Amino acid sequence: MIVKTSKVNLIYYSPTGTSKKVLEGIAKGLGIKGVMHIDLTPVEAATKSHSIPAGELAVIATPVYGGRVPVVAAQRFKTVKGNGTPAVLIVVYGNRAIEDALIELRDITTEQGFKAIAAASFVAEHSFSNEATPIAPGRPDAEDLKKAKSFGEQVKAKLEGMTKSIEIKVPGNKPYKERNPSGSRFPETTADTCTLCGACAEVCPTRAITVTDKVETAKEKCTACSACVKACPTGARVWTNEGVKKAATWLHTEYSKRREPEYFL
Ligand SMILES: Cc1cc2nc3c(=O)[nH]c(=O)nc-3n(C[C@H](O)[C@H](O)[C@H](O)COP(=O)(O)O)c2cc1C
Repeated sequence: MIVKTSKVNLIYYSPTGTSKKVLEGIAKGLGIKGVMHIDLTPVEAATKSHSIPAGELAVIATPVYGGRVPVVAAQRFKTVKGNGTPAVLIVVYGNRAIEDALIELRDITTEQGFKAIAAASFVAEHSFSNEATPIAPGRPDAEDLKKAKSFGEQVKAKLEGMTKSIEIKVPGNKPYKERNPSGSRFPETTADTCTLCGACAEVCPTRAITVTDKVETAKEKCTACSACVKACPTGARVWTNEGVKKAATWLHTEYSKRREPEYFL
């Protein structure tokens, strides 16, 4: 196990950009000059592959969906191989709970050839958050990013003091929690305010959206990630699905108390 590295690979699946933001905060604290981004969010990432040498560091992040690693993220992580590469594992969640996501991420990355040397959970704005029912709005905020940097500094100190790989303990249960049923929920487009600009289609991680003289969504491909909703410049892309609206109200009511990042070092 190496203890000094000049290159860090930020590896992430991040439809609404918060997991990426957290990783960038952590990278600041690591103080490593060479920062490489491996963004697994675009649909093109599915057909590329990467191999990270043992002498580099990987910082790997996923959002939490239903207490698990999202199905698409789990598939995309399989395109990145480690070679006994030290890895820092990060789960980013919408202020409710991480449940089994971190242990699942540890298992996936171990299977891919990485060695987890540190892990953390960070809080971010929930994908279903909106003005009427905000859930951790604006997070990660300045305070979170300060903590992300400080966590990066602690990882750096740990790496420098390490002579051999030490297995870390992460929370979660096995078998993992059952996944939530998927497939029947997808955002709608308000024709009156839609300018057919295509921003929604561009950010969709599964290419579920087609824009011609109207916007169509292949519901079986939609993962409810909400990237299209957040990217729409005119607010035309919205959640009208009753289940999602109910979930947002429940989350807003039950999970508005601020939660803080947790470190597993
Ligand atoms: C389908 C779906 C399921 C989610 N499930 C959870 C959850 O179980 N717990 C939680 O706290 N947040 C949950 N979230 C919120 C996301 O984890 C959170 O918004 C995260 O910051 C999104 O990351 P990203 O910006 O990198 O896409 C869920 C979001 C979506 C879209």
